Amino acid sequence: MKKRIILVTGGNRGIGLATVKGLSINKDDKILMGCRNLEEGEKASQELGDNISPVHVDLNDRDQLKSAVEKIIEEYGRIDVLVNNAGVHHPGSFNEVSVEDYDQSMRVNTTAPFELIRAVLPSMEKNGYGRIVNVASGWGSINEGLEGPFAYSVSKAALNAMTFHMAKTMPKNVKINSMCPGWVRTRMGGDAAPRTPEEGADTAIFLANLEADGPSGGFYRDRKPIKW
Ligand SMILES: NC(=O)c1ccc[n+]([C@@H]2O[C@H](COP(=O)([O-])OP(=O)(O)OC[C@H]3O[C@@H](n4cnc5c(N)ncnc54)[C@H](OP(=O)(O)O)[C@@H]3O)[C@@H](O)[C@H]2O)c1
Repeated sequence: MKKRIILVTGGNRGIGLATVKGLSINKDDKILMGCRNLEEGEKASQELGDNISPVHVDLNDRDQLKSAVEKIIEEYGRIDVLVNNAGVHHPGSFNEVSVEDYDQSMRVNTTAPFELIRAVLPSMEKNGYGRIVNVASGWGSINEGLEGPFAYSVSKAALNAMTFHMAKTMPKNVKINSMCPGWVRTRMGGDAAPRTPEEGADTAIFLANLEADGPSGGFYRDRKPIKW
């Protein structure tokens, strides 16, 4: 496989950082560690391989997001892989969560991934290659009962719906899939979680590396399809 340009959002910590590290094993690929705070990204990437570079990508800022993608394409010529990993978790039931927090969940977990996918797609289409991984959650699965807090579950279910819907009209050899990392020991998952960030990142890496005959439009955990 030729050298790929890979963007991982929220790559400075947790599952995103483990995804960045796991993907960087292929030294031919260039991994762009998306982070909303560039200083944090620079700190996080200090000890890592020289095929990893931090880039400023703030999902709260629509204009910044657009210009970040334009800058990457200007510098590297394309984006081949997008891992929509960054996410936020707001607690509470539908009548406890504030409207502001609900908006924020939808913005980061759903709308920004939608904007990013639209921004990178022309480059993927032009190059006849693309892998898009949406880091969702079992808490966004209707089949598993939407067990999480309201804003989180609804935003991740919408991200899953987006994966399913977009897959219908993706250009040839552009694959889009959702995944659930399981319950993972990160800032979001907390100390009691059973999985390491590396275990959580494994399926995202698997989906980012799919061959041409690999699946598209699915929802995965532990490298296996699960129900929406
Ligand atoms: N941990 C779990 O058990 C679990 C389970 C299921 C799904 N997930 C999903 O896995 C993904 C990663 O979660 P994690 O556990 O690694 O969480 P985490 O440790 O809290 O990391 C979240 C990442 O998202 C970034 N982020 C948040 N808001 C952002 C914004 N507006 N713009 C850019 N980046 C932003 C954070 O940046 P800062 O460092 O600047 O805050 C951080 O890099 C999320 O989508 C989460 O929903 C996690």
